[in-house]
Amino acid sequence: MFETLTAAPPDKILNLSVLFRNDPRPEKMDLGVGVYKDSSGATVIMKAVREAEKRLYDSQTTKTYLGMGGDEGFNKAMLKLVFGADADFSRLFSAQTAGGTGALRTLAELLSKARPGVTVWLSDPTWANHAPILKAAGLRTASYPYFDVATGKVKFDEMIEGLKAAAQGDVILLHGCCHNPTGANLTLDQWEKVARLLVERDLFPFVDLAYQGFGDGLDTDAAPVRLLAKTVSEMAIATSCSKNFSVYRDRVGAMMLLCKDADSVKIAGSQALMATRVMYSMPPDHAAAAVRIILEDEALTANWRMELEEMRLRMLNLRKGFADALRRHSNSDRFDFIAEHRGMFSRLGITEAQVDRLREEFGIYMVGDSRFNVAGLKEDRLEDLAKAVVSVL
Ligand SMILES: Cc1ncc(COP(=O)(O)O)c(C=O)c1O
Repeated sequence: MFETLTAAPPDKILNLSVLFRNDPRPEKMDLGVGVYKDSSGATVIMKAVREAEKRLYDSQTTKTYLGMGGDEGFNKAMLKLVFGADADFSRLFSAQTAGGTGALRTLAELLSKARPGVTVWLSDPTWANHAPILKAAGLRTASYPYFDVATGKVKFDEMIEGLKAAAQGDVILLHGCCHNPTGANLTLDQWEKVARLLVERDLFPFVDLAYQGFGDGLDTDAAPVRLLAKTVSEMAIATSCSKNFSVYRDRVGAMMLLCKDADSVKIAGSQALMATRVMYSMPPDHAAAAVRIILEDEALTANWRMELEEMRLRMLNLRKGFADALRRHSNSDRFDFIAEHRGMFSRLGITEAQVDRLREEFGIYMVGDSRFNVAGLKEDRLEDLAKAVVSVL
């Protein structure tokens, strides 16, 4: 059977982790893999999650099947988190998924069923997994201009012109906040222009919201989705709890739909669940139940929000500190964009050869396109890092 196959290419980022682990230098820095780390380099379990897990352990009496949509309390709470408490829930659908990836893949299956072979437009660049996930569901992909490497900013006019090449009915994938890998995001004014273009040209928005709470706060990060919901008649959203609840390995996220009316919610929702049924039947429960316990309890929610806010502010301080250090050492404003960006990643905008030198000469590990994990920075190593970066320029 398997003699027809050749080995799949190794995952570049996971490969980098192996190299890092085997590097004996004590001063090495891991800025590769996309998980939040605190100042000691640990990815801790959030206090509210720990407490919710304890409550779950004490109260759960059965492990019987829940259903294809997962935990209904979780689904409602997640809709509120994304769309706000005053949203029109009659037009919204949510089902629990295995992480944000599970949401993207299941929604891709749904879109493929609704409009076979439709083209999904991706920002250039985008998260490395987007195109493979969409293609696996039989969708086509194309790309629109997004990031200007020279300035570290969004090329908004080119983005709008690029989107005009999409055909009526095409799908436009947008990062809801904290663009991965660039960290460069649209302003709300720009989101409004994009929303108008989507309506004028009858394009379908597919929003990936994997980092709500990591940019400018939970509500501000959801503002683009809420703005779109007021403007467009239909959209799909893939959310993830991996980062903002720090439950990466437990695999929980949600696929959401905004539909024209309550009847189409029923139809599209049932097809989304059918897509789940034939892939993995139903989602894993544990972390979704913990997230539901947190979001249904005022005190636990406040505790979770506080810890998330600490994480967000830490990343903002690191951004500012690193940009300041680079400004001093390079005697230029070339890297000022790092402080303006939001989320867990930015791209330094250096060459792959320079990235290799940082790894070989200084034990500084980042992805080949010079994407670095802001949360991997250490407050007391920013000067060393800035000096090393400037020395390879
Ligand atoms: C842009 C983006 N979307 C989706 C995901 C999926 O996250 P997960 O499947 O781990 O919840 C990630 C994770 O790195 C991401 O960066």
